[in-house]
Amino acid sequence: MSILTSKTLGAAQPSVRKRAPSPPADFILGHMRGMRGNAAKYMMSLYREYGDVVRLRFGPLRAHVFFHPDQVQHILVRNVENFSKDVRGYHKIRALAGLGMLTGDGELWRRQRKLAQPAFMARRVLVFGDIICECAQDLATKWSTSADNGQVVDISADMMHLTLRVICRTMLGTDIENDVTEIGDAITVCLEDILFRIQYATEFTDMLPTPRVRRFQKALSVLDSKMKKIIDDRRREHAEGKREAAQQDLLDAFLLARDEQTGEGMPEKQLLDEVKTIFLAGHETTANMLSWTWYLLSKHPHVARKLHEELDTVLGDRPPTAADLPRLTYTRMVLQESMRLRPPVWATERRAINDDVIGGYPIPKGEFILVCQYVTHRHADFWENPDGFDPERFADDRQESMHKLQYFPFGVGPRICIGNHFAMLEGILILATLAQKYRLDLLPGSDIEPEPVITLRPKTPIRVTVHRRDGR
Ligand code: HEM
Repeated sequence: MSILTSKTLGAAQPSVRKRAPSPPADFILGHMRGMRGNAAKYMMSLYREYGDVVRLRFGPLRAHVFFHPDQVQHILVRNVENFSKDVRGYHKIRALAGLGMLTGDGELWRRQRKLAQPAFMARRVLVFGDIICECAQDLATKWSTSADNGQVVDISADMMHLTLRVICRTMLGTDIENDVTEIGDAITVCLEDILFRIQYATEFTDMLPTPRVRRFQKALSVLDSKMKKIIDDRRREHAEGKREAAQQDLLDAFLLARDEQTGEGMPEKQLLDEVKTIFLAGHETTANMLSWTWYLLSKHPHVARKLHEELDTVLGDRPPTAADLPRLTYTRMVLQESMRLRPPVWATERRAINDDVIGGYPIPKGEFILVCQYVTHRHADFWENPDGFDPERFADDRQESMHKLQYFPFGVGPRICIGNHFAMLEGILILATLAQKYRLDLLPGSDIEPEPVITLRPKTPIRVTVHRRDGR
């Protein structure tokens, strides 16, 4: 057997090309400027100009961006073991959520994921349906006054508030109605600061006691103290034997988990970090999905009409429950199409652990890799009329002919969003509860830009007027 393999000879395999195309770059900053503007739009322009693969540089850091579904499959599924979350974005998120299920890799991630997984199984999350509907119903009651008085409603704020309440009641078994604004504001401050840290700051400036850093630390300590109180209250309930097995939620799963070898419980800091992770990962994303859905429905009244028809047929005048899910197919399709055009997680970052070849291009060990839901969800080879809002694309019979990876709002592979079934259940039930009663109209002239921060948020508040449907 010859020891002179193509690798040792340095000869490129026939299908390995030399270098991916790269746009002209600033000598020092590289392509940083493009990313600091509207990064999602920048990615779209790169795809239009250069195709499926682009090579970028951010200061000294080198990165490849991949837009083709085959390449996404390679990175997130086929060769997933070669790509870690040892990247700037996740490093910065650790300032808020520590090292755990969302931000960690390897053994730590496997252990935490295994612990949390049972609480997120598709059938298991159905038990949360009633709580979700109750929270949505409370908002429906509030909107009834807005409808009567012709008040303008900030839909993005209402969806943030609603999903924060839902995540607290379902995952942590506590209603934070009185603390919602304080917790929501603290999360917003933290997320905005993390974005700043990703885009501009250095390790050094993050350590200086500047007003920005102090603001972040204050918000973080608000979050920590609220979460610690929730955890302590639950510990007390367990100690006093007040917690029944039937009630168990995610917080119980974390509290009761024991190390197979040592029998020890989860360390206090790890527990706190995982609770914050669920907050961070589980409420803003779902709120953005819903906010964009209301926005798109208001821009496309014929889709809203079809949604209302389905709700009238399936539900009539009774409120929805989790048991209605299999029949609320158009409601589900509306949410799917909304996440195609406005994916709440608009891009996903990784780092190559070893040399690799992706899409025919050699990728050196240590290289940063970006896949971009925002672009792949509009890839011209896979989507007809990519910019149109057409929920029918997600009809069951049409999904069969899709590439597995042309649509991946929840990620894919072993690191797929653990909350995906929960998020869809929540989205469908909230949309059904509210759209059954109300039609929302954007204020005239509202064209809301997406702002790709960590999630794809609306750049300005989405303001609407609320109208009762046929005297409901
Ligand atoms: C529409 C709503 C949501 C969207 C679009 C979304 C999207 C995503 C995506 C794309 C990832 C993968 C990130 C990566 O590969 O780097 C992810 C991971 C994750 N999500 Fe979600 N998510 C949503 C809702 C939720 C909810 C409701 C929860 C929890 C209650 C949650 C918890 C998590 C966690 C813990 C991870 C890390 C999983 C792991 O690495 O094992 N997400 N999410």
